[in-house]
Amino acid sequence: MQVNSLDDEGELIDPFCDSSKPIQVQFQDVSAAAYKIKSGIQATPCTLSHISDYVDMEIYFKKEFLQYTGSFKERGARYTLMMLTKAQKTKGVIAASAGNHALALAYHGHDLGIPVTVVMPVIAPMMKVMRCKHYGASIIIHGKDIIESRKHAMLLARDNGSLYVNGYDHPHILAGQGTMGLEIVEQVKDIDAVVIPVGGGGLIAGTALALKNLQPNITIIGVESEKCASFTASLEAGKPVYVNAASTLADGLAVPLVGVNAFATAAPLIDKMVVVNEEYIALSILRLVEIEKAVVEGAGATGLAAVLAGLLPELKGKRVVIPLCGGNIDTTILGRCIDRGLAADGRLCRFVATVSDRPGGIADLTRLMSDMHVSIKDIFHERAWLKSDIFSVQVKCVVETRDQAHAEELKKKLRATYSHVIWGNAHNEGTTSVPNLD
Ligand SMILES: Cc1ncc(COP(=O)(O)O)c(C=O)c1O
Repeated sequence: MQVNSLDDEGELIDPFCDSSKPIQVQFQDVSAAAYKIKSGIQATPCTLSHISDYVDMEIYFKKEFLQYTGSFKERGARYTLMMLTKAQKTKGVIAASAGNHALALAYHGHDLGIPVTVVMPVIAPMMKVMRCKHYGASIIIHGKDIIESRKHAMLLARDNGSLYVNGYDHPHILAGQGTMGLEIVEQVKDIDAVVIPVGGGGLIAGTALALKNLQPNITIIGVESEKCASFTASLEAGKPVYVNAASTLADGLAVPLVGVNAFATAAPLIDKMVVVNEEYIALSILRLVEIEKAVVEGAGATGLAAVLAGLLPELKGKRVVIPLCGGNIDTTILGRCIDRGLAADGRLCRFVATVSDRPGGIADLTRLMSDMHVSIKDIFHERAWLKSDIFSVQVKCVVETRDQAHAEELKKKLRATYSHVIWGNAHNEGTTSVPNLD
């Protein structure tokens, strides 16, 4: 049975993730995990991407979204479940997760005949909640974020005598995630860098350990969402520290406090950390759908987002591996990401033009657009709140253009034709650094 003591704030301490005794996972642990989980996990492809041509890098995508439950989390989950004692296997395990760790534990628990209970925060995507139930796990929705869910899960674990499995910090989880690194070096020769998304830090810890042991020259780059840059803050502080987690398209990375073992293992191995914004995460999801024919969730697309955002100029001309580590995205969120990606790309634009309210005024505007092969998605006009000319009307449009250059052409033409045009917003006007698809 798991024995818990209390920390300075009177909260339960997970004995496997104790900040007073952080564990540095070793390379042997990763090789042991690889041997053990081999038959139950997909060795996912790691292939040269079409995106390489657009970004002047040789990019290989490690397609972890092709795991059965759609993420790399299966590696650590299966290894941890296989390492349980007989008594623990009978009692079952409990975890807190916003999604992918929950799915992985639920599926492999079912496969191995081990009961699984998962506490999920209220922000957990509905699709992930439903699928965990489908795999037979008991689901409890509790807590506004993963930290609150974890507190609840640990109380339940203590009361039930079951093992609490931290999804980004249990040493067996780290070792299991590291098996992705072993596969990468077998699949791609002479790698210059690997760009790894970071939430609680388990994936980067295990993977960096495997990569640096086998090929010390590989540069390890971690990527976080700007909405929750907890690993970056922890590196600055020299120890895991809390940050506020705001909602992000990369929900899998919204971990306000990184794992103590993950930090102890990964910190010495990471060469650089970068932070990406929501616009580039959305754009990466769009690019992956359009160019790679891959549906990847926000967290899984952040590695590419760092490249598209121009945060890694030193990798130009280099061979770079980017894990696409998860594909579990709600269809409604995917739709919104595609729209945001199109907007970031300058292919979905909005503007307000003040045109004549005489017959033909709006017709002239729509003709201008149709002559330019611009497609109108939405159009709305407003008279009552206009303070100027009584014979003018404000027309708000959302339109689809071919690309950024086409959008610029439309903007110029509108400004040449109408005296009052408000184009998008300041933010949208500045997306010219987005790599072009043409
Ligand atoms: C798709 C995806 N990518 C990356 C991560 C980050 O992994 P870690 O929390 O081990 O840093 C997660 C975490 O849940 C994830 O779901």
